[in-house]
Amino acid sequence: MQSNEIRARFLTFFEKRGHAIIPSASLIPENDPSVLFNTAGMQPLVPYLLGESHPSGATRLANSQKCVRTVDIDEIGDNTHATFFEMLGNWSLGDYFKEEAIEWSFKLLTDKEEGFGLDPKRLYVTVFEGDENAPRDDEAFEIWKKYIPEHRIYFMGAKNNWWSPGDNGPCGPDSEMFYDVTVEGLGDMTKEEYLKADDEQKIVEIWNDVFMEYEKKDGKVIGKLSKKNVDTGSGLERVTMVVQGKNNIYDTDLLQPIVHQVHKVSQVRQVTDGNERVERIIADHLRTSIFMIADGVVPSNTDRGYILRRLLRRAVRLSHTLELSCGLEELVGSVIHIYTDSYPNLVKDAVRIQNEIKKEEEKFRLTLVHGMKEFERISEGKSELSGAETFSLFSSYGFPIEITKELASERGIVVDEKGFEEEFKKHKEISAVGSEQKFKGGLADTSEISTRYHTATHLLQKALRTVLGEHVFQKGSNITAERMRFDFSHGEKMTDEQKKMTEDLVNEKIKEALPVMYEDLPIDEARKRNPIGLFGDKYGDVVRVYTIGEGDKKWSIELCGGPHVKNTSELGHFKILKEEAVSAGVRRIKAVLE
Ligand code: GLY
Repeated sequence: MQSNEIRARFLTFFEKRGHAIIPSASLIPENDPSVLFNTAGMQPLVPYLLGESHPSGATRLANSQKCVRTVDIDEIGDNTHATFFEMLGNWSLGDYFKEEAIEWSFKLLTDKEEGFGLDPKRLYVTVFEGDENAPRDDEAFEIWKKYIPEHRIYFMGAKNNWWSPGDNGPCGPDSEMFYDVTVEGLGDMTKEEYLKADDEQKIVEIWNDVFMEYEKKDGKVIGKLSKKNVDTGSGLERVTMVVQGKNNIYDTDLLQPIVHQVHKVSQVRQVTDGNERVERIIADHLRTSIFMIADGVVPSNTDRGYILRRLLRRAVRLSHTLELSCGLEELVGSVIHIYTDSYPNLVKDAVRIQNEIKKEEEKFRLTLVHGMKEFERISEGKSELSGAETFSLFSSYGFPIEITKELASERGIVVDEKGFEEEFKKHKEISAVGSEQKFKGGLADTSEISTRYHTATHLLQKALRTVLGEHVFQKGSNITAERMRFDFSHGEKMTDEQKKMTEDLVNEKIKEALPVMYEDLPIDEARKRNPIGLFGDKYGDVVRVYTIGEGDKKWSIELCGGPHVKNTSELGHFKILKEEAVSAGVRRIKAVLE
């Protein structure tokens, strides 16, 4: 069974059981500054799991959600980890609960007609053993007993069997399903044997049913939700792996063609770490980069752009190690080909994606070899590289920390990662201060113009939210000396009247000559002001909040790095030139300041 068939079977199975099938949200969270990327299928659904009703009116939902998790980056290339993956999920919003969720998980996994036809004898299950927050989940245990023998159901603590998206949000005890991937078959196991098998990757977690009836704040369970929900998550790569009888995800039809292509163009057959792992890492990082770029991320030194840059540069450096006979952009086709049917937007966007990758690769190749020489020079005879040295490899040669760490570990040298993070933060602060001072002192014309456009962006977003509604969020923006472009979430074409109202509102706020101010606040403090949040802050706990207007004239509050003009009166006259569609649910405004 191919992965496309597995995805389709999952969705059809739940559609037949009354679920609305919803599209995957973008990798970029719409309005959740706590994460840079969606890391689970439930993330875009948090408001509904907390009790809001879903816009579709449905109380049963299912989808396949694109996810990125970079916390596991050091494990990439092992049997089961990838930085990008699709999470199959089904949700009950105050509708069905444990009985149906468990029955359906079991049926879908094992049924030959409707499901994946997996061997029930290879299935193991864990349930929550109880703690001060919630009782032992005997209910889930009793239900599971109907389907699999009781001695293959293990009680586990909150570390394993309590799921929440972070320190805040809906959460609850969960029940996880594991599958035996050994050739010989493990058979019955005691809890100790089961734990050891998990450790040795002889069994693999393939699905998680979370029974969400609690809420967490600042890491503590604060009480029950108004409704009992179900949130499930099943990694498509892992399910495909077990369905296809493989013991690692890189041998499935989702990744094998990419690894194979990398292998084909590799001119080095022996490297220290083992070629196979290096080939897998290149395949993984390339695939993730492609999906990120498709969703609007471009390489940069901050936030999401920096994550993308790190992945791409690591892939470039490893392709240098393997002496690939072509650039990464020539491998893009092998990735997109896999997703022709499931993500046709990749095909449409292929040229732009290739260009972004090519640009970043070319940029990095200019400094890569010199950087490696510099690394040799500064690490000669040392057992540790300091934060400052590691940072200088980044600032002068563009080496993300992963590359320095890899080079260092090949030579048995340790890297002061914390020191690097501190240097990085210091540098960010210095450059922020630097740009403000430049603005005070008067900059070259073009930068002054962009600053005015930047402030206009805030006025425009607020005006759109006032005219069209609170569903409007910035999805992207691009500023040149001539004009601004602003992408935002909105489902339909704006009427002429709405455009006029928006334009008038921006001009009104310019006329009111509102002061533009900022404060640097701890993230929790910032959240209390309820700013329009655009980006998470990965490096510091302090974020910058820009406010336009004060007292009862307070108009817009946004999380933003700046810089901005001091007063809206500096903007001149605002005019919308064009309003058009960018993609489903996203509109674009082109506007000028005259
Ligand atoms: N939301 C459930 C999971 O990620 O496992």
